[in-house]
Amino acid sequence: MAIFGKKKEELLTELPEVLPQHVGIIMDGNGRWAKKRGLPRPMGHIEGAKTFKKIIRHCKDIGLKHLSFYAFSTENWNRPEDEVAGLMKLFYDYLSDIHWLHEEKTRLIFMGDKARFSEKLRNKMIEVEEACKDYDEMIVFLAVNYGGRDDIANSCRKIAERVKNGELQPEDITEQTVADGLYTAGFPDVDLVIRPSGELRLSNFLIWQCAYAEYYFTDILWPDFTGKDLNDAIIDYANRNRRFGGV
Ligand code: IPE
Ligand code: IPE
Ligand code: MG
Repeated sequence: MAIFGKKKEELLTELPEVLPQHVGIIMDGNGRWAKKRGLPRPMGHIEGAKTFKKIIRHCKDIGLKHLSFYAFSTENWNRPEDEVAGLMKLFYDYLSDIHWLHEEKTRLIFMGDKARFSEKLRNKMIEVEEACKDYDEMIVFLAVNYGGRDDIANSCRKIAERVKNGELQPEDITEQTVADGLYTAGFPDVDLVIRPSGELRLSNFLIWQCAYAEYYFTDILWPDFTGKDLNDAIIDYANRNRRFGGV
């Protein structure tokens, strides 16, 4: 298969042998992409959704195992009502056609509290998770109504319940106990975070799981982001010296 004019084999030789186990991507810059073209912001979100699919296919081709995509934060409810409504409709329409997930044998898991969504959207999300739950070649987490602080607070709530029920002693609570209550329980921490659009922040994305992640920032806006840009990030990551507090 040819990707960006190069054969898959050729492309793979460019990449490091050891790939990050878990890559987090903050899909930012849709609004600015649209504005630059004199288009309404929703057009940027529609284009961004197309990029999401393209990048997933690319990640599958190069052999990444775990990916997390930030699509809608707990703070994004503060946006104008019509933009939020447009995004909810886009999510629903998008999830109504997931044949490509089956083609890629990819499992999709949502991170974030589904309770805030309409029943129709919530049921659609559950249906999609169920439909692809047996695929294990690649796991994609889609963060919608997700906040890293909310993720940690949820985990704390579960721990408090267990302590209240006498199943757990406070002195037995470890970092692992907290990690086990997060949306990503059982999956590796994030090794590499990629944020397009020029912003140099995490915006409440996987704050626990990114404690030792490497960061890669680029000015490219998410709808323009390509597989080549993803490869550049991975190559850059491979040249970092990860010490984890050691020497
Ligand atoms: C990211 O693009 C998509 C969401 C947060 C839903 P933005 O909508 O934040 O785009 P900019 O940052 O305004 O360009
Ligand atoms: C972060 O982008 C959330 C997503 C990409 C879904 P924002 O555009 O909401 O972040 P801020 O407001 O610039 O920090
Ligand atoms: Mg933004």
